[in-house]
Amino acid sequence: MNSINVIAHRGASAYAPENTFPAFELAYKMESDAIETDVRCTRDNILVLIHDETVDRTTNGTGKVSELTIEEINNLDAGSWFSSEFAGIRIPTLGEFLVYFGDKLHLVLEIKERRAFAGTLNMVRVLNLLNNVTFTSFDIEIIKRIRQIEPKARVGLLTKEVDETLLRVLKTFRIEQVCPKAEFISLDIVNLIKKFRIDIRAWGVEDEDAMVRLLELGIYSMTVNFPDKLRELLSGYKMKSLSKKV
Ligand code: G3P
Ligand code: CA
Repeated sequence: MNSINVIAHRGASAYAPENTFPAFELAYKMESDAIETDVRCTRDNILVLIHDETVDRTTNGTGKVSELTIEEINNLDAGSWFSSEFAGIRIPTLGEFLVYFGDKLHLVLEIKERRAFAGTLNMVRVLNLLNNVTFTSFDIEIIKRIRQIEPKARVGLLTKEVDETLLRVLKTFRIEQVCPKAEFISLDIVNLIKKFRIDIRAWGVEDEDAMVRLLELGIYSMTVNFPDKLRELLSGYKMKSLSKKV
């Protein structure tokens, strides 16, 4: 069983506003193996953690992250949309996230745009966190570049579906992890990926039924909004496999 299994998607985002310190703190308290978060770049080139291209859905402001300065971003409330309990919570910067959580648990950084990859890699290197970070992206060019620049980086490609052609490309560029969307993972797909000796991590895991289906397929590593539930299910699986050995 891969040791980075319970990956809190945008933090424990079922319980606190996604990609904020309260969601990350909660993920840590829930004994997640890792926190997944999304990296974007402000107009003045500061790396910040936010999923969408705009701030509209998750803050009280409007506009594209790439067109706002860090000062404007810092003035936004990223908590009230979720609940009044989180009013006034700020969008975090990548720097403060890495400094605070870098030595606590594994971090999965999803790079959302090409402008953000070099600065992200640089910051991880400067803070000596290469062993604690996995870089992911839906953009294979970003992943290839990171692999080229830093052979020691752990990298994974996010994708909807997987086929043999894609796996050959990943092998050629020594991309060690592929992350398909949960609903497209079947036993045939798992066996195909295993044949290529590439790690599998699932995303888009909506509920407990989806978690159980993946566990039955032998996939333990996944991003989830409720890390406590996956942790609980996994301890059940551990107990089951221990009792089989007795
Ligand atoms: O775990 C990967 C997942 O975060 C990718 O999708 O849209 O949530 O960034 P998204
Ligand atoms: Ca993400």
